[in-house]
Amino acid sequence: MKKEYFVSAAAVLSAFSLLLSGCSGASHNAVVTDGFPLTQQTVGNKSPESESSESAESSASSEDVTTPESTDVSEPADVTSTEEPVTVPSTDAPEEVWTETPMESTVMYVNTNGVYSRKKAIMGSEKVTLYALNDAVTVVAYTDTDYFKLDDGNFIHKDYLSGEETVTTTTEPLPEGITQVNGVTYVNGIMIANKTYSLPADFAPGVQPDALAAFYKMQYEAAAEGINLYIISGFRSYELQTNLYNNYCAQDGKAAADRYSARPGHSEHQTGYAFDLNSLEQSFENTAEGKWLAANCQRYGFIIRYPKGKEEVTGYMYEPWHVRYLGEELAQTVCDSGLTLEEYLGITSVYAD
Ligand code: DAL
Ligand code: ZN
Repeated sequence: MKKEYFVSAAAVLSAFSLLLSGCSGASHNAVVTDGFPLTQQTVGNKSPESESSESAESSASSEDVTTPESTDVSEPADVTSTEEPVTVPSTDAPEEVWTETPMESTVMYVNTNGVYSRKKAIMGSEKVTLYALNDAVTVVAYTDTDYFKLDDGNFIHKDYLSGEETVTTTTEPLPEGITQVNGVTYVNGIMIANKTYSLPADFAPGVQPDALAAFYKMQYEAAAEGINLYIISGFRSYELQTNLYNNYCAQDGKAAADRYSARPGHSEHQTGYAFDLNSLEQSFENTAEGKWLAANCQRYGFIIRYPKGKEEVTGYMYEPWHVRYLGEELAQTVCDSGLTLEEYLGITSVYAD
């Protein structure tokens, strides 16, 4: 027998509030079917009575339930409800092509009992984890098939997660002005990598074009004054930073290395916005190039990122050669403030361990 079910958004919300107030799903006309709470309505020439004679439990275990196509959102002519029916994806012809929209990682709550996460963002894909009412899941993306992608790579349909309960995911609340997108931290919109805030291992933007263009402009204009600036290290991948850091640890020990070399994932070079110029010797500050850079780099959008005497704040020893691109306006403002970037943004730079 072919059964047809329609679920309305309002009905799901209604079921959700009943469940939250202690009512069981079985006492309501919403039933759980293969992870989908479905509200039965009159369809075609079926009577509501013939459908409601089936128990919620039998429906819940039934695998022969045919649900409407996800793409078929037309409302049947004889559906009496004024609520707009929302169809659920079909098991018949799963559409395996979808796109994911990354979203800020958030915790959401399961709003029904017995919902499965699935291997793919389609009905009929392999079921993975069975969730109970009010279980918390972390979602990281939304698909055009109305599934949320979880942080473990599995998917749950949007109807089974409560939007109202969404909160930013962190063990501690993020301070105001700080956002994290796909594991990358932005403070007041500025991408940050330091000892407190790391980058994902697979974050590899390469050199940022605006930063490189600004460097070339600075190099060109410095050259006109007889100053020779050149890049000795720009974008560094997570893997390259791992090799560098491990070599420094082997050479000087971990405590010493931590004062001048970032651990993998923590280097500003991985953002693509940082350059080491000319020399990795602190004596660079006394050269014509070092002096010119300190006096002028902000005009081109750069700051000396790890100034002298600020190791406790930035986490690193003085690096007169390391510049960070912020854009001309912000670099000038930070420079004029006399503050480090950490101080200016009100953030720390301290390893968790
Ligand atoms: N030398 C700086 C701190 C880095 O390794 O990114
Ligand atoms: Zn550097």
